[in-house]
Amino acid sequence: MDFYIMKIAFIGGGNMGEAMLTAVLDKKLAAPVDICVSDVSESRRQYLEEHYRVAVTASNREAVKNKDIVVLAVKPQNLPEVMVDLKGCLESTPLVLSIVAGVKISAICQGLGHRRVVRCMPNTPAQVGFGMSAWTATGEVTGEQKGQAQAILGAMGKEIYFDDEKYIDMATAVTGSGPAYVFLLAESLIDAAVNIGIPRKEAEELVSQMVLGSAHLMQKTGKPPAELRRDVTSPGGTTERALQVFEEGGFAKLVEDAVKAAYQRSKELGS
Ligand SMILES: NC(=O)c1ccc[n+]([C@@H]2O[C@H](COP(=O)([O-])OP(=O)(O)OC[C@H]3O[C@@H](n4cnc5c(N)ncnc54)[C@H](OP(=O)(O)O)[C@@H]3O)[C@@H](O)[C@H]2O)c1
Repeated sequence: MDFYIMKIAFIGGGNMGEAMLTAVLDKKLAAPVDICVSDVSESRRQYLEEHYRVAVTASNREAVKNKDIVVLAVKPQNLPEVMVDLKGCLESTPLVLSIVAGVKISAICQGLGHRRVVRCMPNTPAQVGFGMSAWTATGEVTGEQKGQAQAILGAMGKEIYFDDEKYIDMATAVTGSGPAYVFLLAESLIDAAVNIGIPRKEAEELVSQMVLGSAHLMQKTGKPPAELRRDVTSPGGTTERALQVFEEGGFAKLVEDAVKAAYQRSKELGS
């Protein structure tokens, strides 16, 4: 991918919009002068202009003028008004990249009267370059545009392309909401550590590094987690005793039920 070749509009400069903007600038996929962020919040516009030296506007129509890529990064409840605003403004060429949770490609195509759409589900670790994005595209998206989408999403961490949209709802339940599951486990572990006597500050440091190290170990060794779990579990030892308690409490089934509930909710939101 050549540097500085994309002209990008961000509709919505909130948490995820800013994460994507930071990644695009860090990886030099676009120059600040070729980026325009539109946001209803004046303080948000001011902040983004000062921090990133990009153009800002309150007008979505203004933002998309002469852009190659239009990123939709507003909350689902704000998308209908954005689509009404932008309908008829997008020429046939620009790529629309939506990160709006739960909104189907068909609704976006219909709402915008535009067929070149990528739908993506990133996650919050994208804010620090360790995101996991699942994405798909309509048949009208060109190979070059897929490359551009891949470069933008790859700039925030890792990305996986799916050729069927149904996988985006599934990924929403696993990697979109997933950081919250990991944080819940971390929270519970910190509380448990405090309850057996470790001071909270030290408990937080122990747990945070342990979660980071475990993820690195999984990625660097390429070993399945079950094998890594067995590696830590000596017969008759401390880990075995703890895992027994997890098993008796139905941990695996609980995780499965939670993911199914999130998947169901993701489908409901898109219907
Ligand atoms: N956070 C996540 O983990 C995550 C993960 C994957 C996908 N997503 C999706 O990413 C999208 C953005 O999430 P976020 O957390 O970045 O939300 P956010 O922080 O609320 O950002 C959205 C921004 O858009 C602005 N906005 C609202 N209506 C607008 C309009 N009509 N035109 C232009 N700007 C408008 C909002 O302003 P106000 O605040 O003043 O309304 C806000 O600054 C959501 O659809 C979400 O589902 C989020």
